[in-house]
Amino acid sequence: MGPPSAGASGVFVTGTGTEVGKTAVAAAIAHTLRAGGQRVAVFKPAVTGLDDEGEPDHALLRRAAGSRQSDEEIAPYRYGPPMSPHLAAELAGEEIAPKRLLSAARAAAAGAEALVCEGVGGLLVPLAPNYLVRDFAVEVGLPLVVAAPPGLGTINHTLLTVEAARAAGLDVSAVVLTPWPRQPSAIEESNRETIAALAGIEVEALPQLDLAAPSSWPPLAPPPPQPAPSRPG
Ligand SMILES: Nc1ncnc2c1ncn2[C@@H]1O[C@H](COP(=O)(O)OP(=O)(O)O)[C@@H](O)[C@H]1O
Ligand SMILES: [Mg+2]
Repeated sequence: MGPPSAGASGVFVTGTGTEVGKTAVAAAIAHTLRAGGQRVAVFKPAVTGLDDEGEPDHALLRRAAGSRQSDEEIAPYRYGPPMSPHLAAELAGEEIAPKRLLSAARAAAAGAEALVCEGVGGLLVPLAPNYLVRDFAVEVGLPLVVAAPPGLGTINHTLLTVEAARAAGLDVSAVVLTPWPRQPSAIEESNRETIAALAGIEVEALPQLDLAAPSSWPPLAPPPPQPAPSRPG
C-alpha cells in the first residue's frame, strides 16, 4: 500500500518547536486550499493540553478547512495534560500505536482531495517511545512546511529542523515565518533572507491572523517541494 496521501495531495506542517505557529500555518494553508475549491481533510496525530483554555488544534483546523470530520477522525489520540504525547499517553495508561495513526491518516486522506496534517511539537518529539513525529511524517509521505517565529534564535532552530527533515529523506517545501510583523525589524528581514540562502528554500511570511475569522485571512499556498540543494565541499 502506498502512503496515506495516495490520491490526496497536501502538506505536513511541522515547526521548530511547540507554540511556534504550526496550527496557524496549517489552518491558513487548509483555508487557502478550501477557498480554491478543494475538499480538505485535516489531521493531527495527537493533541495534548486539552485541559488548557482555548480552542484545541483539531477544532481550529476543522473550522479553517470547512471540514466535517469528527474529533476522533482528525486526532485519534487526545489528552488533557500539556506535555509530550508519549508521556501523556503513558499517564493515560496507553501507548500511541503507529499503525492506528497511519490508518487514521489514510482514512482522512481518502475522504478528501487534500490533506493538511499538523505535527506535534518539533520533528524529533516522540509519539511513542520508539516512534518520532519525523517517523510518522515519513510514513505519511507529504512534503513538509516548517513554521517558525521570525525573531532572534530562529535561524538555528529552523536550519536544524530542515536538516533533520532532509536527513530522513523528507522534502521541505517552504519555511513560514509567523506571525510576521507589520513592520519587520532589520533582524527579522535578515533572518528571512539568511534562512532562504542557507537552507536553499522558499521562506514565506504569514501576518498576524484574526483566528476567529478565516475569511479575512490572506492566502497561503506553499510552493511545490524543492529538492535539497547540493552543497559545495
Ligand atoms: N499568523 C498568526 N496569526 C495569529 N496568531 C498567531 C500566528 N502565528 C502564531 N500565532 C499565535 O502564536 C501562538 C502559537 O501558535 P500555534 O499555531 O498555536 O503554535 P503551535 O501549533 O506550533 O503550538 C498562538 O497563540 C497563536 O495564536
Ligand atoms: Mg498546534
